[in-house]
Amino acid sequence: MSKVIEFINLTPDWIDYYLKWFNDEKVRRFLWPSTPRQRDKIKHWLTKVAFSPKYRYFGIKVDGYPVGHTGMTINFRRLEAKIGVVIGEPSYWGQGIATLCAAHLIKEGKKLRLRTLKARVVKENKPSLRTLLKNNFEIYYQRNCYYYLRFFIDK
Ligand SMILES: CC(C)(COP(=O)(O)OP(=O)(O)OC[C@H]1O[C@@H](n2cnc3c(N)ncnc32)[C@H](O)[C@@H]1OP(=O)(O)O)[C@@H](O)C(=O)NCCC(=O)NCCS
Repeated sequence: MSKVIEFINLTPDWIDYYLKWFNDEKVRRFLWPSTPRQRDKIKHWLTKVAFSPKYRYFGIKVDGYPVGHTGMTINFRRLEAKIGVVIGEPSYWGQGIATLCAAHLIKEGKKLRLRTLKARVVKENKPSLRTLLKNNFEIYYQRNCYYYLRFFIDK
């Protein structure tokens, strides 16, 4: 049976989900080490990404249940954004959700009239790399344990 996947505007009331996701070592493995763990720090981060125009973040619901987020940090001067995705519930991995997230962010980037989307991926994070390559991102640089990818948005 097909699942209903929704991207909704992120609000700080998802804090308890984030507390679980950001403290799951399996989920954190390839995230920035600075990803917050404590409730007050997560709350601060969520408030920032929910209300500042520099960020465009979406909560992901599958059949009404919160499973993660996707979003971007925008540099309006350069018309580019750095994107990210976290499926915080590992039982939902491998179902094509992050692949849809990348496609959703490309659409959103178009709406915002951005030129380029960029991502940084730990080389070992094969699923993440795959979702981006499937959405026609290209690797333009690599350094240490990271691939740097970009996607040019056509007008
Ligand atoms: C990485 C992550 C976002 C992937 O999300 P997902 O919804 O499971 O990804 P999808 O199901 O859309 O696609 C995964 C793809 O990787 C492939 N894949 C999975 N494991 C793989 C492996 N070890 N080697 C190569 N490909 C692999 C899958 O087969 C699938 O490709 P396919 O559709 O062509 O078969 C998710 O695991 C996650 O949130 N992890 C924790 C946080 C994180 O690492 N975020 C990314 C930071 S850059």
